[in-house]
Amino acid sequence: MFHKGLKFSIYFSLVSSWTPWVTAITIPTTAPSTASTIDSSQVAVSLEFFAFPGYTELVSTGTCLANLQSLRGAPVAVRIGGTTQDRATYDSTLATPVSYTVASPTDAPTSLTFGPSFFTLAASDLKGNVTIGLNRQLNNQANTLSAAVQAKNSMPNLYAIELGNEPDLYASTSPIVPSSGWSQTADAASEKSWFTAIAPSVGNMFQAAVYLSWRTAATIPLLGTSINNVRSVSEHSYPQSACNGASTNLQTLMSHSGIVSYTAGFKADAASAHSAGVRYFLGETNSATCGGGGISPTFGAALWIVDYVLQGALNGVERSYFHQGTIGDCQYCWWGRFTTGAPFYGAYFVSAFLGTDGAKLEMLDDGTGAIASYVIFNSAGAPVRLLIYNSNYYDGTGTRSSTSVSFSGGGVPASGTVTALRLTGPNATSRVDEGGIVTIGGGVTFDGDCNVVGSETRENVVVSGGALTVNVQASEALIVFL
Ligand SMILES: *[C@@H]1O[C@H](CO)[C@@H](O)[C@H](O)[C@H]1NC(C)=O
Ligand SMILES: *[C@@H]1O[C@H](CO)[C@@H](O)[C@H](O)[C@H]1NC(C)=O
Repeated sequence: MFHKGLKFSIYFSLVSSWTPWVTAITIPTTAPSTASTIDSSQVAVSLEFFAFPGYTELVSTGTCLANLQSLRGAPVAVRIGGTTQDRATYDSTLATPVSYTVASPTDAPTSLTFGPSFFTLAASDLKGNVTIGLNRQLNNQANTLSAAVQAKNSMPNLYAIELGNEPDLYASTSPIVPSSGWSQTADAASEKSWFTAIAPSVGNMFQAAVYLSWRTAATIPLLGTSINNVRSVSEHSYPQSACNGASTNLQTLMSHSGIVSYTAGFKADAASAHSAGVRYFLGETNSATCGGGGISPTFGAALWIVDYVLQGALNGVERSYFHQGTIGDCQYCWWGRFTTGAPFYGAYFVSAFLGTDGAKLEMLDDGTGAIASYVIFNSAGAPVRLLIYNSNYYDGTGTRSSTSVSFSGGGVPASGTVTALRLTGPNATSRVDEGGIVTIGGGVTFDGDCNVVGSETRENVVVSGGALTVNVQASEALIVFL
């Protein structure tokens, strides 16, 4: 949110000849009432249903989640679900977590079964809250009920259960679709009747809606008293589409003003969920649908994650669950059968900004320009860190521009130095999996198992006359520690 009390002072900078003036932004001395609350798992992870057991076999899954946990001081919430949850049938006699056959190892199955060890694996391998997506599309309520009971009995970390994935996309031939046809109203009636049938066996722990295109606010009143069975409401969000070869645009994806206007679309849905007493999550999200496009594995997508997580929070999104799809065929995945990808660097960096003590977030720019500025406050309301994101697009051609941003006010000492941590890469199109070297603090990268390699160096930022100035290049972000 734009801080109402901003005071601007404009002066000529003698050091930065390419930016003839800089604007000093006044940091509030204490968290304003408009600041947004930060969840301990604001950055969360979604794992495609059929691929979940495979993810537990990758060393990088545990390491990446542990890295984010150590930055936030709380385990990462995980949702297991996606398209294949609505193709899955529970088999209480199955000895393996999942069973399916596919023509090629990178295909997603069109049908699968899963057994009790699916849930014991989720209990043993995942440390944070787990949301499990079960099937509604096949209209086998007795089967879904037995799976839900098994999940409840074997998972102390079970947070919520979804019944169906993206019902707005159900085909008219789906078994759940009645002869009278499908609509958001019909879906809400179906959700309500399933919640009512299953809640007595597992409790009031459903994640409702799970929509890609329908808006969740319209469903909440249609659920009536069944909202009492609901713990959270989920919207799926992909700013771009890569389905059927659709073209994607990295500059648009990572534009700060573009991210501000896109995420504003969640504000009313979040407000309606909160006024109904339930939580509001982007329960599945990533850069582009259908596993991602060419923009998805880039450094620009890492920068998008930083800004998108923070803008989501400002609009009432309590967690953004970044989807990890088919292992080995997934452009937007953070890890998998390739080295730790550039997008993970964004997840890591924004988690470092939120930190173990980040409680309230405020935006310090007006959301219309290319430069984003944020301040995070601790639970005592004191400003602890700034984040500056220069979303000007640098694709490697021409000269890389740089912008100076000055801050004064809350948390800025009268003089001396503070430190800063930079997230940078050769250019927005750089891909770690193609040899591009993205770094945090000059020296930190991740190996293929998501282990931190190298060490962070914090830059010194001189404070003079109660103000500090930082330079951030196009397609780069910086954290300032106050
Ligand atoms: C997980 O969810 C429970 C509610 O079921 C909550 O009390 C707990 O704090 C959550 N844990 C984390 C780490 O978010
Ligand atoms: C962008 O960076 C990559 C290295 O990650 C490099 O291969 C590529 O050539 C750069 N693009 C341009 C246009 O220089």
